[in-house]
Amino acid sequence: MREFTADYLTRTREGMWDDSHDALEPLALDERERVLDVGCGTGELTRVLDARCPGDVVGCDADRRLLAAARERNRERRREPDLESEGDDEGENGDESENEHSDPVDRNERDHGPVVAGDALRLPFPDDTFDLVVCQALLINLPDPAAAVREFARVSSNLVAAIEPDNGSVTVDSSVDAEPPLERRARRAYLEGIETDVTLGASAREVFAEAGVEVLETRRYDHDRTIEPPYDEGALTVAKRKASGSGLADDRATMLAGELTEEGYDRLRTEWRSMGRDVIEQMGDREYRRREVVPFYVTVGAV
Ligand SMILES: C[S@@+](CC[C@H](N)C(=O)[O-])C[C@H]1O[C@@H](n2cnc3c(N)ncnc32)[C@H](O)[C@@H]1O
Repeated sequence: MREFTADYLTRTREGMWDDSHDALEPLALDERERVLDVGCGTGELTRVLDARCPGDVVGCDADRRLLAAARERNRERRREPDLESEGDDEGENGDESENEHSDPVDRNERDHGPVVAGDALRLPFPDDTFDLVVCQALLINLPDPAAAVREFARVSSNLVAAIEPDNGSVTVDSSVDAEPPLERRARRAYLEGIETDVTLGASAREVFAEAGVEVLETRRYDHDRTIEPPYDEGALTVAKRKASGSGLADDRATMLAGELTEEGYDRLRTEWRSMGRDVIEQMGDREYRRREVVPFYVTVGAV
């Protein structure tokens, strides 16, 4: 399973769904009674759903570190006392298998953004527990995304939805001329090396069909991420990672699993770091601007 840090998820989801909820309309959130967000990570989508849904919204993820971060963010957001530290830390460290097909949601958490540990391919809930089961950027990370959609359909009595990007169609504009072509090169090398289909957003309909779920509608949402002055801490961190090459190094093994050679990677890294230094220099002069658009597709089906 590909691992994500809480910082990465928070940074890359910042502002997502703030500008428009049009693409979420087919989820009919204002009518939902019980919603499950699978692969919720730090709960970036869970909180968007929770704000628009009158019923219960539950997050579920296989990574307990991310669930801990999600709980922390929920507590911060709601400015509530730490309920879990009062004796019950089973959600972090305990064996939750006993919860399978019972109700694993800690009742203390119900009003504080409940999140539970679980595998998307073996969700710890009985059939028909929810009236909407949804994920965001989960299917692109799974070797068998249709198996997950089938499992979503098992625990949903009504709707199943996937909000997935097409990472092959990301566009980047930058005041540093070298940045867009270098990002295209790095992205191409990454796409060649990754084993799962990180472009499936645009074709999620086929995954639903394979899972036997009838698609009602697909809508596109462009996640527009802009960096401009004044630069926040996150933008400075990303620029430093470009200049040091550490951001690229995180994906080195994946890139080398594709067609990129060691020499090709070293050349890319040298140019990448030089580009990063230009980014930092422009930031010093408050001239750096970058805009990235990641197309996401909301695919909604009925069970
Ligand atoms: C790219 S992150 C997306 C997180 C969140 N949905 C968001 O959009 O911010 C993918 C998430 O899927 C989770 N994940 C990957 N495989 C999983 C599985 N088999 N079962 C449950 N969660 C899984 C990861 O731990 C990670 O939190």
